[in-house]
Amino acid sequence: MKQRILSGIQPSGALHLGNYIGAIRQWKDLQDSSDAFFCIVDYHAITVPQDPQDLYDNIHQLAAMYVAIGLDPNKVTLFKQSDVSAHTELAWILNCFSHMGELERMTQYKDKKAKHKQRSTVGLFTYPVLMAADILLYQPHLVPVGEDQKQHVELTRNIAERFNQRYGETFRIPDVLHPKQGARIMSLDDPTKKMSKSATTERGYISLIDPPDVVMKKVKRAVTDSGDEVKAVADKPALTNLLTIYTAVTAKSIGEIEQLYVGQGYGRFKKELAEAIIEFLRPIQEKYNELIDHPAELQKILEAGKEKASTVAQITLDDVKTKLGVI
Ligand code: AMP
Ligand code: TRP
Repeated sequence: MKQRILSGIQPSGALHLGNYIGAIRQWKDLQDSSDAFFCIVDYHAITVPQDPQDLYDNIHQLAAMYVAIGLDPNKVTLFKQSDVSAHTELAWILNCFSHMGELERMTQYKDKKAKHKQRSTVGLFTYPVLMAADILLYQPHLVPVGEDQKQHVELTRNIAERFNQRYGETFRIPDVLHPKQGARIMSLDDPTKKMSKSATTERGYISLIDPPDVVMKKVKRAVTDSGDEVKAVADKPALTNLLTIYTAVTAKSIGEIEQLYVGQGYGRFKKELAEAIIEFLRPIQEKYNELIDHPAELQKILEAGKEKASTVAQITLDDVKTKLGVI
């Protein structure tokens, strides 16, 4: 039996290199050896205010990006969370098995709540419970995500164990899977912050649809550490981050890359890193632009995904409802 995997990303704008290196790269590597489900978590996106047209566009752009990056819709199930109503049904049920205290401890909630202050919603608070439902419905062995999602997967395991203890084996307890390198890609303008669209300025991240001149500019302006040695060491967090990106977009190991730049200083290193990123992004952007021009094809992929995901999710939901005594 192939291992089941499930992961998801919010449709909240173009993906950046952190998303690719921390999450999607592993998805791609796993698609042949596993039975994979990848979700566009649109109901998570509405935990903060969204413009309807932007959200609609972002959903389709994310679907196009999933395929452009190399996920093969014939091998994996690509679907939209709101298309499978079992997610919100199970989320309600799991709300009744989640404790206020454990949700209050979620760091992503604390950060987002601080940002939205009095307008922080209940949806933002129970966001991790919807994520637990996303995961548990599919009975996955592994959940490949970046490091910032580890706490949410741990919460998912706790909720699942609680339910299993009370009602007997119902959910598989999934393991989180982080990449060996790059589980936390840092911002280009501040290596103490993670690369993110919201936390830093545009200079801090490289979007997967940034044109070559923008990539070149952002890499050249990236913060470096004192000295001039290109080395991934603890007291060189900026260089370590740039080397992690370099190794992810090429077939070279960090050791090999360090060797290439002995005695060369940062200038050539940054220029060639930018070129490597541009080369890496070129085929992705070509495929992406082609798909964006064919919305009917994307629609077909999402329709097929909806069918497959609904069938699998319903089995778990029916089991849960039977155990609860509601069917
Ligand atoms: P988000 O864009 O925050 O919804 O994240 C989507 C996926 O990308 C999740 O699996 C995150 O853990 C991962 N991710 C986001 N930012 C980073 C980062 N800076 N480094 C590594 N992984 C990341
Ligand atoms: N919370 C995740 C993020 O912000 C997105 C997400 C929602 C997710 N549901 C999921 C990730 C299920 C993995 C599995 O990145």
